Amino acid sequence: MNRNTTVYLYELAWILPSIAIPVGMLAALTVTAFGTGIHLPSMAGRVDPRRLAETAPFDAPGVVQIAPGVFEARMTSQIWSFTPAEIRVPAGATVTFVVTSRDVVHGLYIPHAHVNAMLLPGQVTRVTARFDTPGEYPIICHEYCGIAHHAMAGRVIVEPRR
Ligand code: CUA
Repeated sequence: MNRNTTVYLYELAWILPSIAIPVGMLAALTVTAFGTGIHLPSMAGRVDPRRLAETAPFDAPGVVQIAPGVFEARMTSQIWSFTPAEIRVPAGATVTFVVTSRDVVHGLYIPHAHVNAMLLPGQVTRVTARFDTPGEYPIICHEYCGIAHHAMAGRVIVEPRR
């Protein structure tokens, strides 16, 4: 075996995995996407982001009380705001946020309420939190969504019980 052949075999030992690895990954991706039906992370629901104006509950964003002390906050997100921008509930409320995006990926982050979720166009996000302490809780978009991403915010106002 002369020196040139040795170099060739050594190169081949590197070239073959560099082809096999991406081909293998692409095959794994194809199988998981189409074969095993892996999809968006939540089964909370799918919506058509272009038809939110006529899709319940996003046709009427706002807070509704569904049981004593239990609320549902139906919200949409869009560049660069939340609708509604302000949620008002009494202290002790359990709030389920039902949120989707009209356009691009946004985030729903409420630091002191342990809410941290992604908002994807076409996907409904449901996340529940309890608000025991009265005060103002900022709602922050924590997924970069464009030039005014940093200004995209809302708030939850928890009112003291009377
Ligand atoms: Cu919406 Cu960042």
